[in-house]
Amino acid sequence: MKYKSLKGVHDIYPPDIFIWQRIENISRDIFRNYGYREIRLPIIESTEIFTRSIGETTDIVEKEMYTFTDKGGRSVTLRPEGTASFIRSYVEHYLYNEPSPQKFYYMGPMFRYERPQSGRQRQFYQIGAEVIGAESAMMDAEVISMLSLILERIGLDNLSFEITSIGCPDCRPAYTAALKDYIREKIESFCDDCRRRFDINPLRLLDCKVPSCIKEREGSPAVIEHLCGGCGEHLESLKHHLRILGVSFVINPALVRGLDYYTKTAFEVKSMSSSGSQNAVAAGGRYDRMVKEFGGPDLPGIGFAIGMERIIQLARSLNDEFEGPDIFICSLGDDESAKALGLANRLRQKGVWAEVSHDKASLRSQMNRANRIGAKSVIVIGENELKCNTAKLKAMKSGESSDVSLSADDIATALNKLVG
Ligand code: HAM
Repeated sequence: MKYKSLKGVHDIYPPDIFIWQRIENISRDIFRNYGYREIRLPIIESTEIFTRSIGETTDIVEKEMYTFTDKGGRSVTLRPEGTASFIRSYVEHYLYNEPSPQKFYYMGPMFRYERPQSGRQRQFYQIGAEVIGAESAMMDAEVISMLSLILERIGLDNLSFEITSIGCPDCRPAYTAALKDYIREKIESFCDDCRRRFDINPLRLLDCKVPSCIKEREGSPAVIEHLCGGCGEHLESLKHHLRILGVSFVINPALVRGLDYYTKTAFEVKSMSSSGSQNAVAAGGRYDRMVKEFGGPDLPGIGFAIGMERIIQLARSLNDEFEGPDIFICSLGDDESAKALGLANRLRQKGVWAEVSHDKASLRSQMNRANRIGAKSVIVIGENELKCNTAKLKAMKSGESSDVSLSADDIATALNKLVG
């Protein structure tokens, strides 16, 4: 019986894993420079954490959550995103007692029961960042510019930063009324979901992916045209600070997010080299009411999440670094193999990636293996080498070699010179 992973759920293994690690390392380095600390959150939470914040009438909550009853009779959900879990944790552990603003990042899998296709999985990974306690649009600009730096370091270009404001509870009622007025007459031409959501959450109609609904809602009023004074100023200030930070962006009044918790700033980074609804490689926004709604103090928040698989798709072509061992120690005979094993052990203790052969393979097959696994250098220990305690260390790429004594110190020094 051969087993397969579930539909929309993938293994990540070499060589792709090297791109994953590279992206994670780049992100960690940048987070550090911006003062973000890591937080590790559980993958499973009480269902209510997501239904309340993401919104009862969103696609995520209505259709995509992995929700089940555990053995204790509680309704639990595999997290479909990280922000709600983060806020739960932030409030639960009184993290707001530390000086504001507090900046955190997380990396890990999220789960949404969507129709799997290229760039859309049921288990997918995000790198997320969240800042609590900063009200000014300067922080929005800094967060977006940090995201831009991460994507740039990864080597991605041809990206479009789309920005909008989706208002606040002050401007929302007037906007919602205008939107409903526009749609009311033709509501019968919309899909079942839209008709059902029209009265409870009309903003969700703007997020519907059904082609006929997209057509029907063309020309509907945009939130950005109905912003209150505060939200309007916030957006202007964000634009001003993004220009100061040198981040190119476009204002997209039609941008809506699939989660209910956002206020004011919302943004998406889209890849111009891929099309369709899977072209958003990262997205985020401000959520000024969430901490309070979760039982914490009245503190604003802003953050984003990068979709790892979508970034990997774009970055795959950029991965020219091949990860292979620093040295492969070939040996012929029992005493020579024992010497090789001891040397490899000492080299590893010094931080060198060393490989040896564990069976009595011929020199030719050991050399083949060294080649196949991308060893940067080889050394052969035969009877003579063991007797004289010296051998030739050879760099695979350049073909250069150097005579070294069979000591870990000498080999490590020579390796530094030969293969860096
Ligand atoms: P989101 O827009 O739902 O936002 O997801 C962020 C990113 O995750 C998307 O832009 C996309 O790249 C990736 N993504 C989403 N669903 C899938 C999927 N099924 N397969 C592959 N990739 C996917 C959030 O999750 C918010 N929590 C972001 C945030 C953080 N807002 C404030 N702080």
